[in-house]
Amino acid sequence: MNNRPIGLLDSGVGGLTVVKQILRQLPHESTIFIGDQARLPYGTKTPPEIINFARQLVRFLISKNAKMIVIACNTATAAALPTLKREFNLPIIGVIASGSQAAVQQTKNQRVAVIATPATIKSHAYSDAIQQLQANIQVKGLATPEFVTIVENNQYRAQATQQIVQQTLSPLNEFAMDTLVMGCTHFPLLQPLIQQAVGPNVQLIDAGSATVQAINTQLQQLKLTASDKQIPQHQFYTTGKTEQFVKIANDWLQPAVITAQHVEVTA
Ligand code: SIN
Repeated sequence: MNNRPIGLLDSGVGGLTVVKQILRQLPHESTIFIGDQARLPYGTKTPPEIINFARQLVRFLISKNAKMIVIACNTATAAALPTLKREFNLPIIGVIASGSQAAVQQTKNQRVAVIATPATIKSHAYSDAIQQLQANIQVKGLATPEFVTIVENNQYRAQATQQIVQQTLSPLNEFAMDTLVMGCTHFPLLQPLIQQAVGPNVQLIDAGSATVQAINTQLQQLKLTASDKQIPQHQFYTTGKTEQFVKIANDWLQPAVITAQHVEVTA
């Protein structure tokens, strides 16, 4: 039993989609979240840059007494997870393994599309993980960096956004997938628009949500679960401006009313 918080990091607000699932699925767990808005987007950065940023955020979360780290960012998982696991002496979990597993379990026609940032697509992390689980699955990756900008600018409910989503996803029209992995934790905020664009017969996979089950399994195996008597606490930090962060977080995590603190980072 361990009542210390689960630490989560992301380049921005996207990782809040994982926090939301923890609130639902693991209601006794406390969390501490940091979004690196000052250096967003990660999806266009090089792997060494992303590793350096993620390493700083892990150190911050450890300094706040985190019992486990969740890399709630696909780009950072693809670039930095093995390095971070080697460097730090606490459980660290990413989002790609669980997202891939969920996609393999879901597909019936063995055609899976993955939308993610340019860095995640370039890493082939999803196609490698999916094909390692089942070699005959065809995987098509599509980089959709504009979706991160839409979410960070709080435009995911704007009317013009549906058309942008539709156009961005049009290269997938011919692929005939039955399963689409949202391979960036920002994308579940656009889920209704993505679903409308690809049609009702395509099953969407939320990689972050799929990861919460794996978090629970690890907590149990390592005897790190919080007491069911614990009243959980949730702390939020951003390296960027707190106003925009709090606006999106309060909208997304409803009815939780949150405040956030700013943390300074150096490049
Ligand atoms: C980004 O910063 O480009 C988004 C990172 C991610 O969630 O993959």
